[in-house]
Amino acid sequence: MSRLEPESVLWNMLRGGLATRALALVADLRVAEALAGGPRDVVDLASEVGANPDTLRRLLRALASDGVFAEEEPGVFRNNEASDVLHRGDGWDDFAHLFGGSWLRAVGELDVCSDAPAFQRTHGAEFWSWLAEHADERAAFDRAMLQGWEPRVERLAQLEWRGDEVVVDVGGGNGSLLVELLRRQPGQRGIVFDLPEANRDEASFDDRIEFVAGDFFQRVPVGDVYVLATILHDWDDARAAAILRTIRSVAPPGARLLILDSVVPPGNEPNGAKWLDLLMLTLFDGRERDEAQWRALLGAGGFEPVSIRDGLIEARCR
Ligand SMILES: C[S@@+](CC[C@H](N)C(=O)[O-])C[C@H]1O[C@@H](n2cnc3c(N)ncnc32)[C@H](O)[C@@H]1O
Repeated sequence: MSRLEPESVLWNMLRGGLATRALALVADLRVAEALAGGPRDVVDLASEVGANPDTLRRLLRALASDGVFAEEEPGVFRNNEASDVLHRGDGWDDFAHLFGGSWLRAVGELDVCSDAPAFQRTHGAEFWSWLAEHADERAAFDRAMLQGWEPRVERLAQLEWRGDEVVVDVGGGNGSLLVELLRRQPGQRGIVFDLPEANRDEASFDDRIEFVAGDFFQRVPVGDVYVLATILHDWDDARAAAILRTIRSVAPPGARLLILDSVVPPGNEPNGAKWLDLLMLTLFDGRERDEAQWRALLGAGGFEPVSIRDGLIEARCR
């Protein structure tokens, strides 16, 4: 593998914010969709999507130099494998919108000694309340969460199931995880529990799944299995433990807790969770956790670990 010059390592980081913003701009303009029929001259493309042609060309040229879109001949662009993902309809364009919009503005306010999360200081409201006030952003967030559910369902489906459990997906968002899990387990019933403003496709819910609106700091429905998919990393230790205690207060003694979150490994190897951790810090003062931190959190919430593996932490009531 070719080794990067030390200056190139720094340069690739320095330009990161520009790449994030460029991707958001072309995602918002739906450029990948406009190129779905084949290569197009940038002047024609700009006129369709409503952009300045010179600016669009420079954005696409920079993105193409990093492997998103391709410049086929001067001023003529086409999709490639990476830009095709932006018009696949599974949330990546919404991720690009969020990362390069309200999140990037908050990243600009991240510092090392502030009490409130950078998102709150930037936008004047705590993340979830802000989303509740901005229906379009909330909808983009829920669509973005469609991305990546398949491997998580796979992990869950490989566990041993009795087959007749009531599964409560706490903070279940758009419900796609539970819909897929129950499709594989015909005897189970499920509850998607989330804030009332969470967008979901209830047409995809069969009569074994219901949506229950509520606040997981107040109450959660009774069930046999509690799933927390990318929930606890949104919260600091005190509030994450409070969510676990809400569950513990209603969970029957044999209930299982299944947490789908990262376990940050030691060492210097590249790992997405190490960067996602900084996004969690920016948005909500949340955090990605290593094994010792998961053990401590489970204990504070009234649970004991059964197994702690990257992506899936299993626990039972203490
Ligand atoms: C990162 S999303 C994860 C959604 C879903 N579990 C998934 O993996 O796609 C966090 C979810 O927690 C929900 N949430 C945030 N605060 C909540 C609260 N106080 N009570 C219930 N749900 C809450 C949000 O509405 C959002 O759907």
